[in-house]
Amino acid sequence: MRESLQDTATDPRSRRTRGTLRRVGIAGTGSYAPEHVLSNADLERMVDTSDEWIRARTGMQERRIARPDQATSDLAIQAGRRALQDAGLAADELDLIVVATATPDTLFPATACRVQAGLGAHRAATFDISAACSGFVHALTTCQGLLASRAFDHALVIGAEVLSSIVDYKDRNTCVLFGDAAGAVVLAPCSGEDPPGELLDNVIGTDSSGIDLIQQPGGGSRHPATAETVAANLHFMKLEGRKVFKFAVNAICESVDQILRRNGLTLDDLDLLIPHQANLRIIEAATERLGLDPSRVAVNIERYGNTSSASIPLVLDELARAGRLQRGQLVCLAAFGAGLSWGTTLLRW
Ligand SMILES: CC(C)(COP(=O)(O)OP(=O)(O)OC[C@H]1O[C@@H](n2cnc3c(N)ncnc32)[C@H](O)[C@@H]1OP(=O)(O)O)[C@@H](O)C(=O)NCCC(=O)NCCS
Repeated sequence: MRESLQDTATDPRSRRTRGTLRRVGIAGTGSYAPEHVLSNADLERMVDTSDEWIRARTGMQERRIARPDQATSDLAIQAGRRALQDAGLAADELDLIVVATATPDTLFPATACRVQAGLGAHRAATFDISAACSGFVHALTTCQGLLASRAFDHALVIGAEVLSSIVDYKDRNTCVLFGDAAGAVVLAPCSGEDPPGELLDNVIGTDSSGIDLIQQPGGGSRHPATAETVAANLHFMKLEGRKVFKFAVNAICESVDQILRRNGLTLDDLDLLIPHQANLRIIEAATERLGLDPSRVAVNIERYGNTSSASIPLVLDELARAGRLQRGQLVCLAAFGAGLSWGTTLLRW
């Protein structure tokens, strides 16, 4: 442990000018997916399902599964390191690390603390955000505000999951849907005319009338882990997929419409929509209802399945590294998930 905490009295930010918000942008991206592939053919051998059903109903072909010795922070550290490298930032220049996850290494301390240790980012404050599949956009929204207000200068925002640790591989309703991965971005202040990666606006929200539709009932204070809760499978994820489906399409369409309208923009201005990858049919239904050309909607669900908070930053990093994002493009990230929650970010690449 360090001998003393940072002396905030001599920290220039403690003498900051109040009331002047800074602009904030993405300075680098990174992602990581475990090597092991779980294919539809593998699942056919585990539960009563078929490649045909999974492809037709979800668009998924394979997903990645962490090794038994890999926890969420291990995936997050890999993605974080790649994002730092992309941003040209050293780990000790970070002053904030936020991890969005529904599958933390432990209920406490926060997974972000382990990421700090793994990266050697010893100056960084750390905390986790719990907003399930909307978690990355919730974390982005939080960190943008913290950087804009000058509380921090450089943030590493990570969405990371080992969903295989809470999926029941005897339940065909859920086990075909999920995979493990991590995605990360470095946020930094930006300025000038159209700086790259600038975050323009965020919308986040919750409709708790659907609170029970996606959950992991056991292991928390409502059903503390006991031999009985484990025998009753309460430590596994439960999902009422059909009801979530309808909510998801509405959440994408309404939040994208809201964020464009309040920024004086229309769908014609939007170059790319990056939706949460939960089901190809959800993405296609939202694309059709919005009236967007499918070529303007990013999809990688066939290779990773639903990786919850990692799904959007994973797509973003893949597109950025493949050179498929052009400077100046208007990009919208649209997440939805347990809560029921949603989160949408508008950015200029
Ligand atoms: C889960 C989901 C793929 C199911 O697809 P669906 O078209 O809604 O299918 P249904 O739930 O209506 O089930 C249709 C049938 O397929 C069966 N089925 C479910 N999983 C199956 C599988 N893996 N293989 C074969 N059959 C399966 C069901 O038992 C049901 O059978 P029944 O008609 O005899 O009862 C879909 O609803 C979905 O993607 N929902 C949202 C996902 C979500 O919530 N993700 C997490 C939050 S982001």
